[in-house]
Amino acid sequence: MSDSGPGASFVVVANRLPVKRIEAEEGSTWVTSPGGLVAALAPALADHDGVAWLGWTGDAESDAESEVVTEPFDHGGVHLIPIPLSTDERELHYDGMSNGTLWPLYHDKVEPSEFHRTWYDGYRRINRRFAEAAASAARPGATVWVHDYQLQLVPGMLRELRPDLTIGFFLHIPFPPPELFYQLPWRRELTAGLLGSDLIGFQAPDGAANFHRLALRLGLCARKSKTTLEYEGRTVDVKAFPIGIDVARYDEVARDHDVTDAARNLRAQLGQPQVVLLGVDRLDYTKGIDIRLRAFKELLAEERLHASQVTMVQVAEPSRDRVDAYISLRERVEQLVGEINGDYGRVGFPVVHYIHQTRSFDELLAMYRTADVMLITPFSDGMNLVAKEYVATRFDESGVLVLSEFAGAAHQLKDALLVNPYDIEAMKATIERAVVMAPEEQRKRMKTMRRNVKTHDASSWARSFLSALSAKTATPPEAQLPI
Ligand code: F6P
Repeated sequence: MSDSGPGASFVVVANRLPVKRIEAEEGSTWVTSPGGLVAALAPALADHDGVAWLGWTGDAESDAESEVVTEPFDHGGVHLIPIPLSTDERELHYDGMSNGTLWPLYHDKVEPSEFHRTWYDGYRRINRRFAEAAASAARPGATVWVHDYQLQLVPGMLRELRPDLTIGFFLHIPFPPPELFYQLPWRRELTAGLLGSDLIGFQAPDGAANFHRLALRLGLCARKSKTTLEYEGRTVDVKAFPIGIDVARYDEVARDHDVTDAARNLRAQLGQPQVVLLGVDRLDYTKGIDIRLRAFKELLAEERLHASQVTMVQVAEPSRDRVDAYISLRERVEQLVGEINGDYGRVGFPVVHYIHQTRSFDELLAMYRTADVMLITPFSDGMNLVAKEYVATRFDESGVLVLSEFAGAAHQLKDALLVNPYDIEAMKATIERAVVMAPEEQRKRMKTMRRNVKTHDASSWARSFLSALSAKTATPPEAQLPI
């Protein structure tokens, strides 16, 4: 942190810290997580002279409380403040309320949402811990940017503790229609929590409109305009800011010789198929991995595709594997992969290469470079950055993106082959069309999509959110500091 005053002038509050701990023989070290948020915020972090980032160290895999890091430390010019969670707290806040209640509710209830008072109590307790830590970390008049559904009570709590702060909130996932949100027993509390912000950002205009409608329907605030609400004497802006990726980095690394060689080797290892189909997802029931596999299986059964010509690679990154719905999804997916390979594979040549592991950045890029067709078929998705990553790596303008209409990215990547993942026949026809698409049409579509991802990249997303936030009139901090 800088010496120019106590506390940070810019505080990021996110469920996870932007680093991962790597255990080595000589001790553990921290490395920057490859996640998009860190890259997106890098320019904004560099613009401030004192930056803090609060988050859970995310040791979900480790139950050993002795390993939980609690002391703040500096990494890459940012003051990192770990928020420790005990095993019980993680179960209530992360596995429970965040991923057992809110995640399915916000994703169209693709799986049922569970409502438990104990989960909500845990969620509130952990949100308070984040809010108090943010209140201590921020210098007078600082800007605080809170992220995502795990921390929706933080803006309201923080505003009570520190009315001098400018508070922004960004939701990375969809925001549901009020009709669905109304089921939530804590609908008022969560909505009021978000209204503690000066600016609430959503991935898509639908999400912003849903929230605006909800806040009015709950009678919590008055309408000021289509995108602003009046709440407790303040104006809260409610707008869409579709997130992007660090396009320059993807484009540059994709051109690297090592990546090109790795892509060539991968194709050889796959048996030089004519067409490689690729899926890259967290193993999550919202991603439509199972429906994609079923479509592929039927295409093989109907001899519209042939195992000797087409191979699928599916990376399914382990995720939230203590939550029941994720456990049963894994069983479903692995059963389907087994069935397809059993029915259509040959010794040494499976038709689906299934990887239930986290892949490195370079390996993923080699996969994107190998893939002739990228399959992104979520039932519901805030944005889906994988779609943008694929496009960013296709510098030769080849390749076809099959994209669900229900991914936020579909609003921008209109030259993808858009598909309704609930319509399996449409999905089959779209995959077939992608497999035979002429190079000229591929180029035309990819060119337009590449232009779009370049214009709306990660730093332009962060810049536009933060400039909208700083445009909010902040009352002089001295006048508002708590006594
Ligand atoms: O897309 C929402 C999100 O919470 C991201 O912020 C995060 O990178 C991703 O899902 C993975 O979630 P988790 O932190 O639960 O592994």
